[in-house]
Amino acid sequence: MQEKILDFLKGKQGYLSGDQISHRLGISRQALWKHIQELRNSGYDIVAVPHLGYKLISSPDRLYPYEIKWHLNTRFIGKKIYYFDTASSTMDIALGLGMKGSPEGTLVLAETQSKGRGRMARVWFSPKYKGIYMSLILRPKILPNATPLLTLLSAVSICEAIKESAGLDAQIKWPNDILINNKKLGGILTELNAEMDITRFVIIGIGLNVNNDKKTQAQSVTSLKEQKKEDINRISLLQEVLRKIENNYLVFENKGSEPIVEKWRNYSITLAKRVSVVCQKRHLQGQAIDIDVDGGLLIRNDSGLVEKIMAGDVAHCR
Ligand code: BTN
Repeated sequence: MQEKILDFLKGKQGYLSGDQISHRLGISRQALWKHIQELRNSGYDIVAVPHLGYKLISSPDRLYPYEIKWHLNTRFIGKKIYYFDTASSTMDIALGLGMKGSPEGTLVLAETQSKGRGRMARVWFSPKYKGIYMSLILRPKILPNATPLLTLLSAVSICEAIKESAGLDAQIKWPNDILINNKKLGGILTELNAEMDITRFVIIGIGLNVNNDKKTQAQSVTSLKEQKKEDINRISLLQEVLRKIENNYLVFENKGSEPIVEKWRNYSITLAKRVSVVCQKRHLQGQAIDIDVDGGLLIRNDSGLVEKIMAGDVAHCR
């Protein structure tokens, strides 16, 4: 009911009379008033003026499912959204949902995480109402060994969304770091539920520092607010990330990985650089020369031998 009331209020520039709303929704004026109070408690600024009615002044800076779905216009991503003010990790919630058969495109959002995690079991710092912490369930018809491509696809989508909604140029450090001005802005954690040759579902976990203040983050880390010198609308940014992921995912399904890998090359900060990689206890140095069709990083070592790595920690050498 509250969503229907918001639909009315958002569709009207000026005031909307209580009589009109309650009549169209088939509820009493008193019931309408209660719903308005609840919306106010959720952070919506709604004024009520005698003889004129109600007017929506502003919506809260919260990633409410209703706000994310408003004019999202995707085919399947974000049709089902689970929202938590506080969660341990959106990855664990998405995993449970995936096991129970939640459809492709199901999204889990949290305003903060007490056990947010990154790659290599690192902690993902998730200050409340500042960032975007999301996990998305995908059910691609691909072999498990092709799933790293979804990390690249997500990284490209995030860079496109940042450009579109904040006008900033982000870059990708292989495989999953999103950087601006050489500082980390976000990361992607891809987890898989699969058998040897069947991918049941993939969870794309994305953490983005959006309105984080400088004092709450490490020196090597940045946020969009710090880069843009103004607050960023988290809702529009998240919507754009979802749209871009869906578009790229549909391209991937129809045309394969090459168009995605091509875009990835353009955003890459790793290619052509001398890199040092720690990969399964091995230490490798060489020049990052390209990305393979399966998303692996091709490195030419000092003896001229080209090796492919599928996972690892990459450091750019000076
Ligand atoms: C990394 O850079 O190591 C990846 C970070 C991924 C963090 C996101 S935040 C939302 C989701 N839930 C988590 O616990 N982790 C991912």
